[in-house]
Amino acid sequence: METILIAGGTGLIGLELSKIFVEKGYRVRILSRRKLRSKEMEYFVWDVPNAYLEPHALLGVDHIINLAGANIGAQKWTTSRKKVILDSRVQSTQLLYDEVVKQAIPLKTFITSSAVGYYGSITSSQVFAETDQPANDFLGSVCRQWETASLAFQNSGIRTVQIRTGVVLSKKEGALPKMMQPIQMGLGSVLGSGLQYIPWIHLEDICQIYAFAVENEKLVGAYNAVAPQSIQNDAFTHILAQKINKKILLPAIPEWVLKLILGEMSDLVLKGSRVSSNKIQSEGFKFQYENIENALNQLLI
Ligand SMILES: NC(=O)c1ccc[n+]([C@@H]2O[C@H](COP(=O)([O-])OP(=O)(O)OC[C@H]3O[C@@H](n4cnc5c(N)ncnc54)[C@H](OP(=O)(O)O)[C@@H]3O)[C@@H](O)[C@H]2O)c1
Repeated sequence: METILIAGGTGLIGLELSKIFVEKGYRVRILSRRKLRSKEMEYFVWDVPNAYLEPHALLGVDHIINLAGANIGAQKWTTSRKKVILDSRVQSTQLLYDEVVKQAIPLKTFITSSAVGYYGSITSSQVFAETDQPANDFLGSVCRQWETASLAFQNSGIRTVQIRTGVVLSKKEGALPKMMQPIQMGLGSVLGSGLQYIPWIHLEDICQIYAFAVENEKLVGAYNAVAPQSIQNDAFTHILAQKINKKILLPAIPEWVLKLILGEMSDLVLKGSRVSSNKIQSEGFKFQYENIENALNQLLI
């Protein structure tokens, strides 16, 4: 039986992913800033800014998945918030690496989350692939530094994978409930031009990609994790409204209004390009939810 440690495993992806690994028969450990308990998993505490990791958290661990990171959509991107967003990702990766080396853990795999923000907050006709360069904007720079930190594992001979995640759709948390709420209240509308792409992925598929990356030793390096069929904000908004029997009656919210309210964070909703899923599919990964209709049918039942 192999042991897997999921850092930041208490969030949207981690909660589902940890259940999948328990069902598969792995010993699952969760690394969190809080002391938690459950029957199925062991919990360990860490404190990234103070470089603290609870003793024995890494003992016997075969694979590490690092999902930790301050939520990018939770607060406005002030200078101090930007630092927390960056540090929680880069320093957590560095802490894990330092401890693996210090304790001489014979780790087989290190998998880090990254994001499609790597390619930049832009709306363009380009379909971004893993060979494309990172952008110079805030999210592009965070993702570049996050992935670069993970290369310390790769350089020590540990198989390392970066999962460039799109917008994860789940009925409980994340982007979908936030998009649904105004539509349910009759206040839904297209955002900005509506031409921006939403590089989405169903929660089940992103979790299966992590499991696939653990179990397929040929996977090394960066992989985009987005559904094969992309959709623009305008079409997405109307399909979502139709699925919950609502109508979009209001005009599109102008970009300047969202910029005024959200500041630079408005990039998250006003911009978006297409991202290719070809690389992960060519490794043999099969998406359960390839198009938005099927994904929403499952999520909204
Ligand atoms: N969900 C998406 O749409 C999406 C899209 C692209 C990329 N991603 C990336 O995928 C990863 C997992 O996503 P998720 O949606 O599961 O995220 P999430 O629900 O926000 O959970 C992330 C976890 O990180 C830990 N965390 C938060 N702030 C932290 C800090 N300052 N220092 C250390 N740990 C901290 C928390 O665990 P504790 O409170 O237990 O410590 C939290 O449960 C994240 O890195 C995220 O950026 C997600």
